[in-house]
Order: sequence, then structure tokens, then C-alpha cells
Amino acid sequence: MKKKKIRAGLIGSGFAARFHMEAIEKVYGCDVEIAGVYGRTPANTRAFAASHGIDAWEDLDGLLDQVDVVHVLVPAALHEEIAIMALNRNVFPIVEKPLTGSFGDGSEGFDGQLAAKEPVRQAALTSIRNMLDAEAASTAQILYAENWVYAPAIQKEREVIEKTKAQILWMHGEEAHSGSHSEAYGHWKYSGGGSMIGKGVHPLSAALYLKRVEGRARFGKAIRPASVTARTHTLTSLDGFMDAGHLRADYQDVEDFAMVHVVFEDGTLATVFASEIVMGGVHNWLEVCANNHRSQCNLNPTDMMQTYNPVEKQFDDIYVVEKIGTKQGWAKTAPDEDHAHGFMQEIEAFYRTVAYDEEVESNSQLAADTISTVYSGYLSAERGGAEVKVDLL
Ligand SMILES: NC(=O)c1ccc[n+]([C@@H]2O[C@H](COP(=O)([O-])OP(=O)(O)OC[C@H]3O[C@@H](n4cnc5c(N)ncnc54)[C@H](O)[C@@H]3O)[C@@H](O)[C@H]2O)c1
Repeated sequence: MKKKKIRAGLIGSGFAARFHMEAIEKVYGCDVEIAGVYGRTPANTRAFAASHGIDAWEDLDGLLDQVDVVHVLVPAALHEEIAIMALNRNVFPIVEKPLTGSFGDGSEGFDGQLAAKEPVRQAALTSIRNMLDAEAASTAQILYAENWVYAPAIQKEREVIEKTKAQILWMHGEEAHSGSHSEAYGHWKYSGGGSMIGKGVHPLSAALYLKRVEGRARFGKAIRPASVTARTHTLTSLDGFMDAGHLRADYQDVEDFAMVHVVFEDGTLATVFASEIVMGGVHNWLEVCANNHRSQCNLNPTDMMQTYNPVEKQFDDIYVVEKIGTKQGWAKTAPDEDHAHGFMQEIEAFYRTVAYDEEVESNSQLAADTISTVYSGYLSAERGGAEVKVDLL
């Protein structure tokens, strides 16, 4: 079969842009032609463009007019606007997590911790609706860049659930590390919240995805979230917190610990932890307890490789594993972290959807359910952990 040519653009040239570029370069199902990158800071955009041999654009509309698919790699507060601009042109937006959210009233002094959470939740629901409406009116689709869906461990679990017709009774999982690299993170107005939305969406989306898979396999219909109980905490802001210098501790108005407990439509459960207080590299995992099997899905660390390094300096120019505090001693070294996280598989799948109309696993409904669950979670946390219904859009 002759490969189709797909024209792509990138919006944003930061951390996520780097791993998206690496994944685009590995797409094999179609021929990708990169029209260029657009960013807020022309100097940074030009430097990123030069390092990847692509064009830098200073005109967002101009770039969108040139492409079939656009990677939305900017802070979450901008996802809705840019995704809708793309959808209005029938361009597929690959939207990084979180799909969207609720980012305050636009005032400089907005404090996400103090803000009443029902209006915050309603604003998030409105944003989701705006995106779903734009998608419904477009020939393109939202491609929700939740890499956990495409991680090998989660896709293997999909196969187990589909082939054994498993009933999942409880999942529990976590995404945690010692603090985000991004300066914007820690301000509700840019990220729409703290650990729950910043990190929790990964295991949460994976859990919601596997329950969808179960419903699809057993009776042809997704099993979706019904209610949520959540708690949030700000551990690094406690008066008594003793800062030993190993954890980031300058969060402005967001939580650094969250626990989210979901009850699905069929009464089964998922419990997710997300935090910024876990040392020793990222801790990304999901355990599935079903009626016929139990699986431990490890995204990071994995046991694929372990190294012992007696002298820190020896590994100065060797990447070991994400967010590791020291390279000395034993480490669960990641030989191919991007693969274990599902980044390449995700981008390959999205380009197949754009080129050949293949069905998308990480779609807008999964994204919408995730964000709706998160903001019902923030309302629950405000109420001290009371159960709150999840609105399905
Ligand atoms: N899937 C993952 O594991 C993962 C990891 C990191 C980040 N992300 C997501 O990727 C997105 C981007 O995060 P990041 O870590 O790359 O952030 P970043 O701060 O490193 O980069 C953000 C980029 O957006 C650009 N930008 C900001 N405002 C803009 C505007 N108004 N117009 C155009 N460009 C603008 C900045 O110049 C920068 O290039 C976020 O949604 C984040 O949650 C996902």
C-alpha cells in the first residue's frame, strides 16, 4: 500500500514538544511532512525549530492553514482555544493531557485553593462541552494524548481483558515524583489544579480506559464513571514541613497530594494517588484486580534493566530514569523510557487515524470523562471527601 502524506504542525516548543518531535520522527504508517512550529516566544521557537531542522512560525493561523494534524503542546489553559481553532479548520488536534480544565477568573490574584469548587467545576464542564461541540461540527477528531493508554503494559492488559472477558472489580494506581520541572506548574491559573489534574489524570484515564474496554468486550458499551470521592493536601506548605531540599516546595495555590476514589456505573472501583512528594524517580503504575486475574502494570520503574554505579560522576552524561535524584548506587535504569510510557505508540496510532481513519482508543469521550471526574473530585475534596456525582457529557 502506498503511504499517505500527512502534514503536521506543533504549537509550543517546551518539554512536551521534545518528546512529540522524537515520536513524530519514528512514525512509519504514513509519510509525515512537518510544516513547522509556532510558540509564544519567537527566540525559543526558532531555537527549537533549528535544532530539529523545521520552520519556525510567528503566525498561528498561517500554520494551521497548512496542516492536517496539529500537536497542542502548550499549558492546559490554552488547549480549548487552540483545539477549537484546529477543529474549525477540520484539522485534527493532538491535545496533550489534561484535555482542558478550569483556570480561574482571569484575575492576577486568583487563588485556586480558596476558590469555591462548584463554579470551578461548571467552568471545566463548559470548556469540555465547547470542545466536544467543535468536534461534532468538524470532520476531524480530538486525539487525546494520554500516553498511558498506549503504554505496552496497559495495552497488554487490554488484550487480557478482551480475550478473557474479565470483570474488573478494583484498580489502584499512582503517578508521583519529587516535583514538576515546569515553572508554570504550581499556579492554578495555568494548570487548572495541582497533583490531581497534573499527575492523577494519567492513572485515572488508564483506569477509565480499561473499564471502557471491559464494557466493550462484554456487552458492546463503555462502563463509565458514576461518582467520585477525593481528598487533596498541601504537604510541602505545612507549617511544620521540614524542607531537606529533595522535593520541590514552591507551589503557589495547588495541592501536592491527591487521592481519588471512583465508583463506576456498575458499582466497581478505581483508586488513584497523585503527588509531588515521592523520591527515587517517577512512580507510575496501575494494578488491576479482576474476577479472573490480577495484573501489575508498571510504566516506570520497570524491571527491564538495573544498574549499579559506584561513582556518581561516571554517569554524568548517561540518562538513567526520569526524575531520579542520584545516579549513584542501584537504579532501575530505563533502556527505552519513551517506549515504556507509550509515546511512540500513541503518536503512531494518532497518525493512522488521521491518514486511514482508524478508530482512536484515546478519544474525546475518555478525555471528557477524565476531566469531569477530576473536577467532581475537587468539589468532593472541598466537602472533606463527600461522594460527588460525575457528569457524563
Ligand atoms: N504526557 C506527558 O507525560 C506530559 C509531560 C509533560 C507535559 N505534558 C503536557 O504538555 C503540555 C505542555 O507542557 P510542557 O511541559 O511542554 O510545558 P513547557 O512550559 O515546557 O512548554 C510550554 C510551551 O508552550 C508555549 N506557550 C505558552 N503560552 C503560549 C501561547 N499563548 N501561545 C503559544 N505558545 C505558548 C511556551 O512558550 C512553551 O514553548 C501540558 O498540557 C502538559 O500537561 C504532558
